[in-house]
Amino acid sequence: MEGPLVSERRGVWWVLACSLALASCGDMEEAEDPDARLLEVGQATAECSTGVRWTGGLKGSPLMMPGSDCIGCHAEWDGPTFTAAGTIHGDFRDEEECAGVPGVTVQLTGADGRVVEVVTNAAGNFYTTAPVAKPYRVTLLLDGSRRVMPVPQSEGSCGACHTRNGKNGAPGRAVAPR
Ligand code: HEC
Ligand code: HEC
Repeated sequence: MEGPLVSERRGVWWVLACSLALASCGDMEEAEDPDARLLEVGQATAECSTGVRWTGGLKGSPLMMPGSDCIGCHAEWDGPTFTAAGTIHGDFRDEEECAGVPGVTVQLTGADGRVVEVVTNAAGNFYTTAPVAKPYRVTLLLDGSRRVMPVPQSEGSCGACHTRNGKNGAPGRAVAPR
């Protein structure tokens, strides 16, 4: 009963991994699946640009609730404290809890010039506890491409603005370079 479902899910990730060049597609059979962890908690769906949606609900996890206002909820419900956190998606209009793009380098340059770099995980989430002086700038890097936030921000929680429809002038989700 589990067989077909598992291989269908894996298929989705292989396509994604190939398109992101995270792994050599020829070696797939032998390679350890880098997204095995997400496969355990995520569900394949055509409704998300990455083909996967978080299904773990409120369970505390580095992969939890992609696209949400991480820092806002953690402040309210005693979650861990981060100086910056969010999700880098595959599309500006990705819905709530659509997994984002893994392997994106999020470069945060604080007002003091100090640079903090974090790489997105299997859910496209990132977070840091390193000091980030506000207002900070953002550059996203993936496979030699970059995407820059044109204005500095003083709120560390990307999801406070980068919602599906965009708040505070944001153009929808924060999206990976391509
Ligand atoms: C609706 C509220 C809520 C949202 C939104 C939320 N979290 Fe959490 N998170 C929590 C709570 C509460 C905890 C602590 C309790 C727990 O671990 O179950 C937690 C725990 C965590 C942990 C620690 C997990 C562990 O293994 O100890 C990480 C990492 C984390 N969240 C990352 C994130 C990131 C990244 C986001 C945004 C993409 C996010 N969270 C969004 C409520 C939330
Ligand atoms: C307080 C609101 C706010 C927060 C918080 C915020 N942004 Fe933005 N972001 C914006 C706005 C507004 C724009 C569009 C600016 C413009 O086009 O003039 C934007 C644009 C961007 C862009 C470029 C969009 C494009 O055209 O491709 C990226 C990338 C981005 N933000 C990433 C991030 C990341 C990553 C975080 C979290 C570390 C973040 N942003 C936090 C408001 C915010």
